[in-house]
Amino acid sequence: MWLSLTSHAPHPGPLIPPPLPPLLYVCVLLSHHDGLFVCGTNAFNPLCANYTRDSLEMAGESVSGMARCPYDPRHANVAVFAEGSLFTGTVTDFLAIDAVIYRSLGDSPALRTVKHDSKWFREPFFVSAVEWGPHIYFFFREMAMEFHHLEKVMVSRVARVCKTDLGGSQRVLEKQWTSYLKARLNCSVPGDSHFYFNLLHATSGVLHLQGRAVVLGLFSTPPNSIPGSAVCVFDMQQLAHVFEGRFKEQKSPESIWTPVPDELVPRPRPGGCAVEGSRFSSSNSLPDEVLNFVKTHPLMDETVPLLGHRPWVVRTMGRYQLTTMVVDTEAGPQRNRTVLFLGSTRGTVLKFLMVPSGEPVAHSSVFLEEVEGFNPEKCGEDTPQARQLLSLLLDRSSHTLLLAFPSCLVRVPTSRCHLHARCMK
Ligand SMILES: *[C@@H]1O[C@H](CO)[C@@H](O)[C@H](O)[C@H]1NC(C)=O
Ligand SMILES: *[C@@H]1O[C@H](CO)[C@@H](O)[C@H](O)[C@H]1NC(C)=O
Ligand SMILES: *[C@@H]1O[C@H](CO)[C@@H](O)[C@H](O)[C@H]1NC(C)=O
Repeated sequence: MWLSLTSHAPHPGPLIPPPLPPLLYVCVLLSHHDGLFVCGTNAFNPLCANYTRDSLEMAGESVSGMARCPYDPRHANVAVFAEGSLFTGTVTDFLAIDAVIYRSLGDSPALRTVKHDSKWFREPFFVSAVEWGPHIYFFFREMAMEFHHLEKVMVSRVARVCKTDLGGSQRVLEKQWTSYLKARLNCSVPGDSHFYFNLLHATSGVLHLQGRAVVLGLFSTPPNSIPGSAVCVFDMQQLAHVFEGRFKEQKSPESIWTPVPDELVPRPRPGGCAVEGSRFSSSNSLPDEVLNFVKTHPLMDETVPLLGHRPWVVRTMGRYQLTTMVVDTEAGPQRNRTVLFLGSTRGTVLKFLMVPSGEPVAHSSVFLEEVEGFNPEKCGEDTPQARQLLSLLLDRSSHTLLLAFPSCLVRVPTSRCHLHARCMK
């Protein structure tokens, strides 16, 4: 079984005992009111089907997994159910060239992102998808298009689509999103030369910390740079606000990217959700000018600011990078502390306690301990590949973490207080 999925599933529950026979690598595993929705790569012919929750039997027919699941389990994909539809971020083809954010199933028409348009996507790697307000937000990393550099630079993004989008007119964006917009995530350390953590690896869901809806993101530097990882926190309200700001454009292939002056943006504002009862109550009745604008201007000018102006956790110069994360907002005896568990490329888990510090939005972190996760008795030979942590899951009921390695599953306790007399305080 392949395991990048479980952290996105709203209620993953206990791990499904293998095997789910026809699906091979499982790439989508979502829990909904009628049971489980599962997609698998099925030997390069992706398929999806519903399964009953308790007996894990297939319920009804299977459907094609195309645009819901990649052909190859190494390609990233994310999925979320909302308003009766399945929203996925994945690649549709064998060579992973056609990246897509796709809506399917349910009563709304199927919609996708524009095909082979590097303004919409450039080699994206999807990390997570969350529902918030009228939108679905997708977190991913991709090659930047907005810098004037010869070398390729990877950046992290958040994109969103309206859940009520019905697609464009017959002339522009037919069967495609009219509300797809994206912005860069700014995870950086302030200083004379701003230092950026550009590669997003994991996010939390939407959490409520001190009255704010926030998303935590785990980032790293690129492989050829100073090794470093950081956790940055984004306020969903501030994040949504960036999508109300200016659009970015490149006037000609030679020119640099600049913000679009307000007076050149058509009305109604491109990329918004159609409002029932208004003049344009459905996205397919929008003027062509508006649809053409959003088709050619998916990128916002401003970056999403990080809460508190600095990362909440920074680790640099380690021998490894941190690539997986789970957040426990109900830690401690009073269940009112927030603890981050960050999984490393060496198969260990680092624990940090978040400490609110003075200002309403600033936090600092206290490093608690590093726990060995890899267990040669269960996982076989101890090699760097075998130690690549694929997925990390918190099982609150048993106070344990589940660690998925390429060849084994390991369970470790979330706290080992008996080893540390001081931590009881
Ligand atoms: C699975 O169940 C969900 C929710 O009832 C439904 O929307 C979807 O169409 C079903 N999928 C298949 C493949 O039957
Ligand atoms: C990122 O945020 C910092 C302030 O926290 C700001 O100084 C910097 O200009 C921002 N970078 C980008 C690319 O927006
Ligand atoms: C957690 O709750 C306890 C008891 O109600 C309180 O004393 C403590 O300050 C709280 N801690 C935090 C971090 O809110």
